[in-house]
Amino acid sequence: MSAPATRPRILVTRAIFPEVAARLSEHFDVESNTADDDWSRDALRRRLRDKQGALTFGLERIDTDLLAQCPQLRICANMTVGYNNFDLDAMTVCGVLGTNAPDVLTETTADFGFALLMATARRVTESEHFLRAGKWTRWNYQMFSGAEVHGSTLGIIGMGRIGQAIARRAAFGFGMRVIYHNRSQLDAATEAACRASYVSKHELLQTADHVMLVVPYSAASHHTIGAAELALMKPTATLINIARGGIVDDAALATALRDKRIAAAGLDVFEGEPTVSPDLLTVPNVVLTPHIASATAGTRRAMAMLAVDNLIGYLVHGKAVTPLNAVNPTAWVAA
Ligand code: DGY
Repeated sequence: MSAPATRPRILVTRAIFPEVAARLSEHFDVESNTADDDWSRDALRRRLRDKQGALTFGLERIDTDLLAQCPQLRICANMTVGYNNFDLDAMTVCGVLGTNAPDVLTETTADFGFALLMATARRVTESEHFLRAGKWTRWNYQMFSGAEVHGSTLGIIGMGRIGQAIARRAAFGFGMRVIYHNRSQLDAATEAACRASYVSKHELLQTADHVMLVVPYSAASHHTIGAAELALMKPTATLINIARGGIVDDAALATALRDKRIAAAGLDVFEGEPTVSPDLLTVPNVVLTPHIASATAGTRRAMAMLAVDNLIGYLVHGKAVTPLNAVNPTAWVAA
């Protein structure tokens, strides 16, 4: 009798849907963080040492130091669209493929961007806190007067798939004028489909009533919005960040909000999250949510399943199948 073929070993670094875990077990020997513990770098390194693959969650720094201790590793599959946890150069040098999970979260994340915009402009959480604190004793015509959303100008920085989905909601649902800034201008057909016009970042900041950040994080996009940019915005403007912590200088934003330099902000992501700057926690004109823009069960399941597809594609089918969502495809080409 021939010995059973060894199956690739993979690590799942956080808790995951049971059906996703079950699908992984059909193909791999799986070690899972079912308790959803916060593993130290050392614990992650120890567990990854004998694995060929990892299902990662955008939180684990995959860099030279870690890769040096994990010689068998061939793929890290993020279940997130963002992949700023990957040191792509180091991974490519070590022949480790990185994949992400785009598309499946686009509409859900755009919905949330709009929810945060509405909550911020119309002061939803601030007024709810007021009510819950028992402060609503009489009505006044100026109570929690906010900013208009319909018919206003939305400026989107980062016009990828999610930015475009937000633009469609704004233009066709809310009759907004949509302007955007991006590394490169979109083609005319895509611009028309989103009814959006390209402007410089400077013009966008000066003109928009609401500024929405949807740009991926990189060294180049670090502090896309700092004190100088906030100074360009209208005093009545709102700023929404559903992109990544570090795109906004949170300290500069807290100062601008406290000084009423801009009217309000809605933030789903933070520098150094899950720690949030105490300055932001104490200003009233900011809506804060814990990085939940893609958080619906259906979308999160689809994101995890896409990561599983990427793991199966690479570790089971190897070079026979082009990886679905490679973010450093040269690692695959060279394998
Ligand atoms: C993503 O997919 O990158 C979202 O921010 C969830 O982490």
